[in-house]
This record gives sequence, C-alpha cells and structure tokens, in this order.
Amino acid sequence: MTSCSPLLCLLFLTLSFFLLSPSQVASSSSPVIFPIRKDDLSRLYYTTIQIGTPPTSVITLLDLSGQWSWFNCDGGYNSSAYRAVPCGSNTCNSAAGLGCVSCSGPIRPGCTNDTCGVFAYNPFQNTLFSDGLGEDVLVVRGTDGLKYNSRLHIGQFPVSCVDSSAAEGLPKATEGIIALSRAAISLPSKLSEALKLPKKFALCLPSSSRLGHGDLYVGGGPYYRPFTGKKDFSKTLLITKLLVNPVSSAPIHGDSDVSVEYFIGVRAIKVDYTPISFDSSLLSINSTDGVGGTKISSITPYTTMHSSIYKALVKAFTKAALKRKIVQAAAVAPFGACFRLSTIQKGGNAGPEVPRVVLVLQSGVSWLLKGANSMVTVSKEVICLGFVDGGSKPATSIVVGGHQMEDNLVEFDVGASTFAFSNSLRDQNTSCSHF
Ligand SMILES: *[C@@H]1O[C@H](CO)[C@@H](O)[C@H](O)[C@H]1NC(C)=O
Ligand SMILES: *[C@@H]1O[C@H](CO)[C@@H](O)[C@H](O)[C@H]1NC(C)=O
Ligand SMILES: *[C@@H]1O[C@H](CO)[C@@H](O)[C@H](O)[C@H]1NC(C)=O
Ligand SMILES: *[C@@H]1O[C@H](CO)[C@@H](O)[C@H](O)[C@H]1NC(C)=O
Repeated sequence: MTSCSPLLCLLFLTLSFFLLSPSQVASSSSPVIFPIRKDDLSRLYYTTIQIGTPPTSVITLLDLSGQWSWFNCDGGYNSSAYRAVPCGSNTCNSAAGLGCVSCSGPIRPGCTNDTCGVFAYNPFQNTLFSDGLGEDVLVVRGTDGLKYNSRLHIGQFPVSCVDSSAAEGLPKATEGIIALSRAAISLPSKLSEALKLPKKFALCLPSSSRLGHGDLYVGGGPYYRPFTGKKDFSKTLLITKLLVNPVSSAPIHGDSDVSVEYFIGVRAIKVDYTPISFDSSLLSINSTDGVGGTKISSITPYTTMHSSIYKALVKAFTKAALKRKIVQAAAVAPFGACFRLSTIQKGGNAGPEVPRVVLVLQSGVSWLLKGANSMVTVSKEVICLGFVDGGSKPATSIVVGGHQMEDNLVEFDVGASTFAFSNSLRDQNTSCSHF
C-alpha cells in the first residue's frame, strides 16, 4: 500500500467495501459486453473502457496475446480508487510480477514506491517497459446477448500506467492495450473471476468502422445478432479444441511457463474441396521449442503463413481462380496473388465469388473462408488473396489474423478448452456490425 492520510485510508476502505459488497457481485449473472471498433488505418480492433473514479474513457487495442493490460496515463489520468499492488503480495505473485518498482514522485497512478513490477509489452515497438501494477475500478455493462441491461463495477481491475513513450507505435486512436490472453490477470480472466461467470469470452469483429461496432462478450452467451431476433448463436457454433503451446513465447517468462496465447489445431487446408500439399509437420507444435502450429491473433491484420504453406495456397488458389476464368493482376504488396475485380462475380452477402479457402480443424470441423474473409480489395480494379507470407522460419506456422475473423463469431472457452466459431454471419443474414 502506498501511504495515505487517515481520512483517505478510510475513504479507500469504504470504497472497496462498497465495490466488493456481495450484493453487487451476486446480482450479476449476466455476461458482460464491450463495443469493438475497427481502426481502418491499422486494420486493428479496439474498445473503450471506463476506468477509475471518476470513470475515465480510455481507448484500448484488443490483444489476444497480451499478458498485462496497460495504458498511457500521461494525459493526467488520476483516479481516487487507484491502488498500487505492493511487491511481494499475493496479487503480485498471481500476476506473475517481477521485482519492485519505485518512482521519485509526485505520487499518482503509475508513480508509487514498493510497487509490484510488471512489463508492458508494446508489440508495435517490440519493446518491454517495466512499470508498476495497479488496481482500479472498471465500470462494465451487463448484456442480454446484444443490448446493455445493467452497469457493474469491478473493484480491482489490474492495469499498469505507462508514459507516452511506451505507447508510441500503437494505432493512432488508441492509448493502451487490453490483454485478452489466458493469463490470470487478463480482462476476461479477471471479469469471469470477479463476476463468477464461466471462463469464456467471444469476439465478433466488425469489418469496417462505417457500419457501427462489433462486440466482445465476456462470460458466455446467449449471443444475439442484429436482424435475427432471438436466435442464440451460442447454440450453433462449430467446436474444436483450444490448444496450449507448452512453450511460452512471451518476451519474459520462466522455464516452466506455458504460452498464454490461443492455439488451435489446423489439420489441412483446402481450396475448393481439394487439400493443398505442404509439409504437414508444420501444423504441429514442437513441444521442445514451441515452434509451429496455428494461433489466433487480433493484432495481425491478415493471416500469415509459413512460406511453404503460403506458396502452396497461392498456387492452388490461382489455379482454381483461373478455372473460373478469373484474370490475374500484378501482385500488390503485402499480397502475393491479385486478380481483376471485373472478372469476378459479385456473389452474395459473404463476398465475391472466388474459390473457397477452408481450414480443416481438429475434430473435423471446417472453417470456411469465403470472399469477404479471403479477399482484400486494394483498388477499384484489383482484389487480392488476403493472406501474407510469414517467411521460412516463423515461430508459429499459421497466425490467423483479424480479416479472416471479421463477421464470424469466435468463442474462446478457457474453462472447457474449446474454440468455437460461427463461420460467416453474412451467410446467416447478419454480421458483427450494429449501432
Ligand atoms: C491525484 O489525486 C490524489 C487524490 O485522489 C491527490 O492526492 C494527488 O495530488 C493527485 N495527483 C495529481 C498528480 O494530480
Ligand atoms: C519514493 O521514495 C523516495 C525515497 O524515500 C522518495 O524520495 C520519493 O518521493 C518516493 N516516491 C513517491 C511516489 O512517494
Ligand atoms: C523440436 O525442436 C527441437 C529443438 O529445437 C529439435 O531438436 C527437434 O528436432 C524438433 N522436433 C521436431 C519433430 O521437429
Ligand atoms: C437469408 O435471407 C434470404 C432472403 O431473405 C432467405 O432466403 C434465407 O433463407 C435467409 N437465410 C438464413 C440463414 O436465414
């Protein structure tokens, strides 16, 4: 604890009692929802959280790989409910904190002594910043499956304050990162624990900022979507196993730490029903060094693949496209296969009529990527296969990116170790966007 005057201490105590009073927690059996917006420039996804006392809106990027949540507090963020987590405390240990952080003052969120040290990892700089861990009040909204129905206060949400240099490189609109990984102090882990909700969350990523917002659900369904009434999509999702990579790829981790990221088992990749051929050992995770396999990433705009998989995909897709009399165009970086839009049939809701890319997953379910998820329009005349070459030595062979998940409902059930998905909601007369 940082020092406080008796009056302030009393205030803290009263406040935490109020915020953690059983009636507050028990009253929430409904899951929680956050709006997701797309930043059209970076093609990444963010939400706005309400944090602190009084509540302040902070725009934060959603990161499925993130271990700790953090944001830039240089803008004068000062919350009366903010408390530094002491080093050596149980909270610090469960947050995998390291060492003690101090600060010359004046005292404010992000500047306290004897504070549990954590690392804010900025993936856009590939830099780690050592900062103090704090806890603050998070204001969240309960949901009936689409709309808000209540307001809840989470008393001790773990977050780090960083300075502006640590936040450099983030998409322009955003000021920090919300961790969605399986780490104990990520947003979904913490909310499920505090509200006694199932340990699962779901993303419905919108395809454009113009069409409204998508949704992040924490704590399970029902999942309703616009224009489909009371159809609960949680009942019709396809299910595969959620895998754990036994070797952590976090910038700082212990020898026995497993990865906090979400892996799934891709068994084969098909283009229009025909499997493409490549060295299938790339699809397994090597348990010694953690290399290989398939993970899901919300900060990768387009799915990246090991070069040899990527080349096989481009070859098979181009061949299937030519069969449909689709005319190839010069490639536009970062894509390796582009086509003339005028030679492609417009298709239905799920995008232009192009060969289907299918990820066949463990347990036999197929993730179908139709035009809206497989293609990217780069100009009035040209459309490209929206996958990117990840080089010949990537740590992970396939990184499923945001574009491929848009307008799909995807659910990460950490409790049951399952990954469930809807396939394109556009084929089901709805989408991930609404106002
Ligand atoms: C932050 O607020 C606390 C009281 O809530 C106050 O004591 C402190 O001086 C403030 N710090 C800054 C930098 O405004
Ligand atoms: C931390 O401790 C040092 C040395 O006692 C002191 O000078 C400094 O003001 C303290 N910082 C804060 C934020 O209280
Ligand atoms: C797994 O990784 C280890 C260490 O890099 C390597 O020695 C081994 O050959 C790899 N196993 C397979 C099956 O590739
Ligand atoms: C979507 O709407 C079309 C036309 O209104 C209808 O024919 C089709 O059955 C609907 N599909 C689903 C999955 O509801």
